[in-house]
Order: sequence, then structure tokens, then C-alpha cells
Amino acid sequence: MQHRQASTDEDATRSLTARFNSVRARSEHDCAPLEIEDYSLQAMPETSPPKWHLAHTTWFFETFLLEPFLPGYTPFNPAFRYLFNSYYNSIGEQFSRAQRGLLSRPTLTEVLAWRETVNQGVRGLLARGLDEEMHRRLLIGLHHEQQHQELFFTDIQYSLSCNPLGPAYREHTGPWLSGQHTPPLQWHAIPEGLCAIGATETDAFAFDNETPRHRAFLPAFELASRPVTNGEWLAFMADGGYDDPALWLSDGWTARQQQGWQAPLYWQQDEHAGWQSFTLYGMQPVDPARPVCHISAYEADAFARWAGARLPTEYEWEAAAQHLDAQVADGQFIGDGHYHPRPVRATQLLGSVWEWTASSYGPYPGYQAPAGALGEYNGKFMCNQLVLRGGSCVSDADHLRTSYRNFFYPPDRWQFSGLRLARGKQ
Ligand code: AVJ
Ligand code: FE
Repeated sequence: MQHRQASTDEDATRSLTARFNSVRARSEHDCAPLEIEDYSLQAMPETSPPKWHLAHTTWFFETFLLEPFLPGYTPFNPAFRYLFNSYYNSIGEQFSRAQRGLLSRPTLTEVLAWRETVNQGVRGLLARGLDEEMHRRLLIGLHHEQQHQELFFTDIQYSLSCNPLGPAYREHTGPWLSGQHTPPLQWHAIPEGLCAIGATETDAFAFDNETPRHRAFLPAFELASRPVTNGEWLAFMADGGYDDPALWLSDGWTARQQQGWQAPLYWQQDEHAGWQSFTLYGMQPVDPARPVCHISAYEADAFARWAGARLPTEYEWEAAAQHLDAQVADGQFIGDGHYHPRPVRATQLLGSVWEWTASSYGPYPGYQAPAGALGEYNGKFMCNQLVLRGGSCVSDADHLRTSYRNFFYPPDRWQFSGLRLARGKQ
């Protein structure tokens, strides 16, 4: 028995170490196509430079795991505590978020050396064995880095889009336009009833904001079998959707007026070639068969009203995901190696594009932020943001769950954010 227990622990350590190594390596792998000048780009306060993402994810492991738990560990550079703390007031003050692009030092070489030092420290900790709290923090650190890998892609796309040369993160090979026929939209009917919302005890990992699991009563509703496509979005535009205030929420109409929105972020009309969109592959034609993305929640809401439908609530989305269990595997994720949503399939739920919901990002009944600095991770943002569900083409498949709650402010457009329609009484 003793012996078996020990080898199970060894297996667990080995697989956790392998997971740690692969998540850490992926951040560096994702940077491989960059030029050195790209590493410090920051085009708006909400986005961060690639080098900052590499450093901040390292700061996270150093601050929450190595400093408290690895005997004899001293910080690589005490100044980094301030530079790469994102928003944890209980850790200390932070360097200005909007000015992260000014950090030409530490250099990339120094940041990579820091990464290696921290990697060795975490591997050392793993070799000594983790207690429950260390294990919890390691898992949060890994999922945290996966969140930043996704932000890395959306941030670098935004930065590159600001350059009139339109540099591509990667070159695309083969034709961009699929010429594919969009599968007709079907409606999944979900009967009224009690549903269970939130992470389960058996989930390998979940963020605190997915708990506590609780029950909710939902009237019958219908959820679309796939996200809305660019082709459908073009029809909305052609029908004057952007110019009809009756379709828009008041705050949405104000944003549309102030920003001059006439199309999703990154779209540009070419006199000869028609609508083009900036992507991680540079400028590409808008493919009617692909899901629409880079829209705000306001645009999503206006489209839904135009289509005689509405956005689902996050509870409806999650209840439907449970009903449609079999189709959850059908998504598109970063592992597929395509850095833009592919043409929609007849049924797809996870991956491809994040889907705006009608739900405010708030605490579930009985939610309590964890004690300590990590309590600042999710809980303090539960105000004025909306929940998005599903995941995107730049999300890692093993980072997502049907209970996963992403959140952004309603006007935000630089994520791979799209929509799926719902209908029925709410
Ligand atoms: C869940 C994507 C809104 O961007 O701040 C990163 C993810 N949390 N580091 C964010 C996150 C801590 C979070 N979002
Ligand atoms: Fe972070």
C-alpha cells in the first residue's frame, strides 16, 4: 500500500511538472514570430506588451509560490515586485498600467533569465513535494499564465493593427476565403427547469468566481446551434443596423456615436476588394462563413434585437452546455494552430469566439473571495462588466470549462468576442 501510494505521488508530480514545463514553454513559443521591437509595444492602456506578459506571469509564480514556500529563495530583482505587479494592492503599489510600454528595461534577455530562474525554483519545489495550498497556487499560476497567453495574442494583434504597414504575426498559407456554405442556424430547445450552475467538486480546476455551485430556475428558452457569422453581420450592416438608434441600448448608442462605429473593430472597406479585416495574419478579406468577432457587447445586443432574438444569460448558456454535452468537444482552440476563427460548423459551443452574454459579472449567491492577496484575482472586478462564455481560437482547450466565466467591459472589442443568439422568455 505504502509503495503504491508513493508511486502515485510520483506520477502526479511528474505530470504536474510536465504540465508546468509545457505551459511555461508555450509563452515563449508564442513569442517566436516576434521581432525584438515588438516586445515593448503597448497601443492602449488596456493592452500589455509581450515582454510584460512574460514578466508578469513569472512575477506571479515568484510572488505567490517561491517567496513564501521555497526555503532560501530570494527575489531575482526586488524592483520587479513593483514593475510586474498588475493590480494586487495587498502585495504593494504598482507601476502604471498605461505605461508598461515604456519599460525598455529589463531587457528581453533579462526577463528570459528570470523566467528560467523561476522555472528552476518551481521545479525544485515540485521535487520536494507540494502541500495543498502550494498545489492550489501552482494550478492558479498555470491557468493565470494561460489567460495571459490569450491576452498576448489579442494585445499583439491590436498593437500590430496600429502600424500602417499592417505587419502579420504569422503568414497565412492557402486561400483565406473558404467559399463555405454556412450551416443553417438551428435552435436547441431547452425545457424549463432547475439547473445547477458553477464548478463541480470533481473539476480538476476552477476559478473562485465559478463557485459556489448553486441551483437556478430557468424558463424554457432556445439557444442557437452556432455563433453569428460575418455574412449575417454584413446583412445587419447593409440593413442600416449601425444607424438605427431603436436597435441600440442607450449606453451603446452613445459609444457608437462617440467612436463612430460602422463595423467591427479591424474592419476596413476597400474600394475594389470590399470588406477587409486586420487579423494575426495581417489584412485579410472578411469571410462570410467565419464567426463575427471583435465586437462590443453593445453591438452584439443591437444585432440580436435586429435579428428578433436576444443575448443569452450566462445561466442559459451554461444550462444549454450541459444539455448538449456531446457537442462540447467540437470547438476550435489554440492547439489547432490557426490564429483566427475558422468557418462555423453546424454545431459548436466551446472555442472559436467568446460569446457575450446579457449577464453582469457578479458574485454567485454565497460567493466569498479567497483570503489573502489572491482574493484580489477575480472578486474585486465584479462591477460594471459583462460575462462572456465559451472560449476562443486563442484559448487553450485544457484551460476552459463550461462553467468558465470570462469578463470584459461592454465597449471592449479587442478580444475575440462574438455572439450567439437566444430566444424565449427570460
Ligand atoms: C478574465 C481576462 C478579464 O484580463 O485581467 C489575468 C484575466 N486575471 N491576470 C484579465 C487575468 C489576472 C482577466 N480576464
Ligand atoms: Fe495577471
